[in-house]
Amino acid sequence: MMSPESSQMTVPRFAALKAARRKITVLTAYDFPMAQLIDAAGIEAILVGDSMSMVVQGHANTLPVTLDEIVYHAEMVGRAVRNALVIVDMPFPSFLLGRYKAIENAGRILKETRCQAVKLEGGMDQAEVIEALVSAGIPVMAHVGLRPQSIHSLGGYRVQRDREELMADARAAAEAGAFSVVLECIAAEVARDITAAVKIPTIGIGSGPDCDGQVLVMHDLLGLNTGHVPRHVKPYAQLAPRVTDAVTRWRDDVRRGAFPGEEQTFH
Ligand code: KIV
Repeated sequence: MMSPESSQMTVPRFAALKAARRKITVLTAYDFPMAQLIDAAGIEAILVGDSMSMVVQGHANTLPVTLDEIVYHAEMVGRAVRNALVIVDMPFPSFLLGRYKAIENAGRILKETRCQAVKLEGGMDQAEVIEALVSAGIPVMAHVGLRPQSIHSLGGYRVQRDREELMADARAAAEAGAFSVVLECIAAEVARDITAAVKIPTIGIGSGPDCDGQVLVMHDLLGLNTGHVPRHVKPYAQLAPRVTDAVTRWRDDVRRGAFPGEEQTFH
């Protein structure tokens, strides 16, 4: 049955933004209210990132978050969004157990949430998986450069500078059918050259200004993290101290009998 044309961002529209030379914005969200606010602000895509492992669940890296947990949060985000494309991260190791399992897991994400695409960390090494997912009708955003799911092999979060390998990864992802590729913490000159070399939009994080778009973790943008702020982050608000201030003022009002006042009281 044909449904009326929706104004929601689609994968083909997202991919076409590169040719239109329109800078693309992507932010992470993990729950309903934040997804609603981001969507209303006109951001092109929302990523239900496995960064939730660190910023929401409090883990030291992105490895612990499970497929069940990602699906649970993606459902909330999917319910909130009316305009943006919603992309869901495939958690470690949900796409590393063979093509069949990758299709089963990505298929579950699309079936159980209202999200339209998945993201997975990999380039050349995951080309077969990307191809299999795309053949199954599952749009894939690839993720090359710094891959946080490989933190133990990498030995730390470092800027990636191997031009040949990074270029080959991005090219392989595009040839395998990925509709876009995240470039994480890649030297700006290399990211610029990759962006010029591939036909799909490059979405940068810590990879300089010449990518086709930028992605940021929402908690970093809002200044909600109390720990280390990486160099590539520019907080556009400082919400952590404001939250602490609101909470302590409420606590003090309750303690001195000033809350609830007459206005908040029913008779
Ligand atoms: O999980 C995430 O938030 C990400 C972005 C940083 C690209 O992968």
